Amino acid sequence: MAVPDIPPIVLDRGGAAPLGVQLAGELRAAAASGVLRAGDRLPSTRALAATLGISRTVTAAAYEQLLAEGWVAGRTGSGTFVTAVPAATAPAAGPQRPAVARAAGAGIDLRAGTPCVEVLDRSAWRRAWRAAADAAPDAAPRPEGLPEFGAAVVEHLLRHRGLPADPADVLGTAGSTAAIAELARTLPRGARVAVEEPGYRRAARALAEAGLTVVPARVDARGLVVDALPAGLAAVYCTPAHQFPMGGRLPAARRMALVQRARAEGFLIIEDDYDGELRYDVAPLPLLAALGPDVVVHLGTASKLLTPTLGAGWLVGPSAVRAAVLGHRDRTGSRPSPAGQRVFAAFAAHGDLARHLRRLRRELAGRRTAVAAAVGAVGHAVAGDAAGAHVVVPLAGAAAERAVLASAADRGIALDGLARHHGAADRGPRGAGLVLGFAGPARADLERALPVVADVLAAHAPV
Ligand SMILES: Cc1ncc(COP(=O)(O)O)c(C=O)c1O
Repeated sequence: MAVPDIPPIVLDRGGAAPLGVQLAGELRAAAASGVLRAGDRLPSTRALAATLGISRTVTAAAYEQLLAEGWVAGRTGSGTFVTAVPAATAPAAGPQRPAVARAAGAGIDLRAGTPCVEVLDRSAWRRAWRAAADAAPDAAPRPEGLPEFGAAVVEHLLRHRGLPADPADVLGTAGSTAAIAELARTLPRGARVAVEEPGYRRAARALAEAGLTVVPARVDARGLVVDALPAGLAAVYCTPAHQFPMGGRLPAARRMALVQRARAEGFLIIEDDYDGELRYDVAPLPLLAALGPDVVVHLGTASKLLTPTLGAGWLVGPSAVRAAVLGHRDRTGSRPSPAGQRVFAAFAAHGDLARHLRRLRRELAGRRTAVAAAVGAVGHAVAGDAAGAHVVVPLAGAAAERAVLASAADRGIALDGLARHHGAADRGPRGAGLVLGFAGPARADLERALPVVADVLAAHAPV
């Protein structure tokens, strides 16, 4: 009879422990680590003894030990089987917590950045994937993106962002962060790029990784402080629709001033419009790309509208910039995956994207109101525009911020603080507070988590 597979077993014949004890130890470790699984049949004691070149009394002693401990079970006539991990080794249950905390104890993540997939209409989503799968296999890559994706983006930009664009102006990307990394490679090494502070750290890291010098750019309640930008810049990265993370919307006068400075000083503006569609109070202001198509590279993404797993975004910018990005793709062999683009285009095709956006805005508006009410009930306020999928709750200082994060984590809630959105090199004044994302969790989880957040905040004075 063939001997069933067993994991490699190392026995030390000269060792202090008896061979039976060593063998039991090896098999126990294999079961505990998952090398052996519940239901796996062990070889007979005779076959194992022959394989290992040891006496059958040794294998029988080892099996008896494991049987006694509950790692294996014997079935008469059919052999010895690995059982599930014995109850005694399972982690002990922790002390009972109050009802609210226990409900949240499964771990509710209220950090910013996760989209609201709960409101995605599953049949529309399935329809888009099926339609995407119906496309004939591509014989050659499309480094600029698929034409149907470009057409869907043009329609989306016009309807939801008021930006008239030509399909030829659009490059498909693997998302905004990937596009920032590509743009970074097209700028001269060592060039100075201003990045909002606090701001999107992954953008700053992508730029620094390409050998650029990242310069902190001041932000106030209304976004980038254009007058405070230093001279000698090659590019400015900003989030004018909804400054990340502070939530300000860049006023029209600052937009004009930024575009004018870019033209006068010869720098490029990278407009990261990561959640510009998620505006549910007032109409959006004109995009920077609409004011200065000659100096602005506009980046959009499906990450916040649908999901980052599509890996689909878009870049609209001057032809020289697009050509430089395509050149980089050509040299490195990198290009955005067509699969996510196909799904996005199919989802947009029959109005499903527009319907989803309406639903998403309604849902997020309701969630934001719930967050503001919960923190407001304990005297705290939320900062930033009524838009997007996160709010900032200002706190008195870094110590309060750390304490709130620690108490929330202790009660099963992951929160984010402003400290994480500052660069290590920034020496300017720092505000403290929570950055609370409300899109990611299921609505029911958010509602369970908010009383805990309020409870934790109640121990700290509002700002
Ligand atoms: C400001 C900002 N830009 C861009 C992104 C991500 O975009 P993508 O997934 O397309 O890289 C995020 C995600 O959290 C973000 O906060």
